Amino acid sequence: MRNDTFLKALLRQPTPYTPIWIMRQAGRYLPEYNATRKKAGSFLALAKSPELACEVTLQPLERFALDAAIIFSDILTVPDAMGLGLYFVEGEGPKFERPVREEADIARLDVPDLEKLRYVFDAIALTRKNLKGKVPLIGFSGSPFTLACYMIEGGGSDDFRRVKSMLYARPDLLHRILRINAQAVIAYLNAQIAAGAQAVQIFDTWGGTLSDAAFREFSLAYSMQVLAGIGHDPQGAHVPRILFTKGGGQWLEAMAGSGADALGIDWTTDLGDARHRVGSRVALQGNMDPMALFGTPATIEAEARRILGRFGEGPGHVFNLGHGISQFTSPEHVHALVEAVHSHSAGKNPA
Ligand code: CP3
Repeated sequence: MRNDTFLKALLRQPTPYTPIWIMRQAGRYLPEYNATRKKAGSFLALAKSPELACEVTLQPLERFALDAAIIFSDILTVPDAMGLGLYFVEGEGPKFERPVREEADIARLDVPDLEKLRYVFDAIALTRKNLKGKVPLIGFSGSPFTLACYMIEGGGSDDFRRVKSMLYARPDLLHRILRINAQAVIAYLNAQIAAGAQAVQIFDTWGGTLSDAAFREFSLAYSMQVLAGIGHDPQGAHVPRILFTKGGGQWLEAMAGSGADALGIDWTTDLGDARHRVGSRVALQGNMDPMALFGTPATIEAEARRILGRFGEGPGHVFNLGHGISQFTSPEHVHALVEAVHSHSAGKNPA
């Protein structure tokens, strides 16, 4: 591995500078991504072609000195493989043809045949080969709860009324979905690791919409099952795991004991405060507001310095945005961010 700063930082080991990658770094803000997506015909055709998924995974690394690659895919591939029928309506985001709402739908639900996700594992193996050890490759999955949100709502939602109705009226049904999702995610992440993923991230995008008690019972408990079920890599080494709960700042102490090596932090939490609260239990990943990239190169640099300063000296910080990059972001501003993080963190991360 030519650049292992990302893996080292996740394990709180010293690095020459703070590594950075960007959530949704392969995406619509890059003209070359839009060109490949056009060639594929649709987002799903792009995600399901190992060659094209590999191509777009590598695109941001050609432009920017990023310290990790993340496999181009989507969290909704798992419910799609469960037979829910994923499709995209232009401008409306993801939808499912057959959402899981009635007791009978839930009784039928099962862990998918991993062969249906072969295209993801093939994309990972191909990308590892083409990366030639340049930077590590991240695999990922949605959390059991975040997947359940899309499976029950049938798409995105403003209020999660259907999920929360089930949570309060029939918690037994939601628990059944979450148990199956956790088993599916464990098998999915382990297969990604077998194919070559060198770190894994669990995206709990919607856990932060829950009450404190419900978060612990319906989101964190199942992310912890997943974390406990992740195995070693083919050489027998520990695979670092990142747990990202958007809006999860109030649960950092609980998440620090979840079995994750690192916690993803959104921009609403101060990174210095977060570090103080988790101590030496986990590394931290984050946490610039994606909208800060709509400033100028000078304000982006100042914001990067501020965040590096809030984390402070010593190892255990992976720089990232607090959520996915907007499709309207200028690639030049991403360049300014990556350069600022690298230059202002040089020499700050010894043990
Ligand atoms: O980080 C990366 O570069 C890897 C690629 C990645 C995608 N989706 C590609 C994608 C990752 C890690 C995801 C995760 C994902 N997908 C999450 C969790 C992270 C988060 O953002 O909270 C969620 C909730 C989804 C579900 C999903 N997929 C939504 C809501 C959408 C629509 C987004 C939009 O802006 O319209 C997608 C589609 C999607 N997944 C796109 C990309 C690049 C845009 C699709 C396109 O090209 O038209």
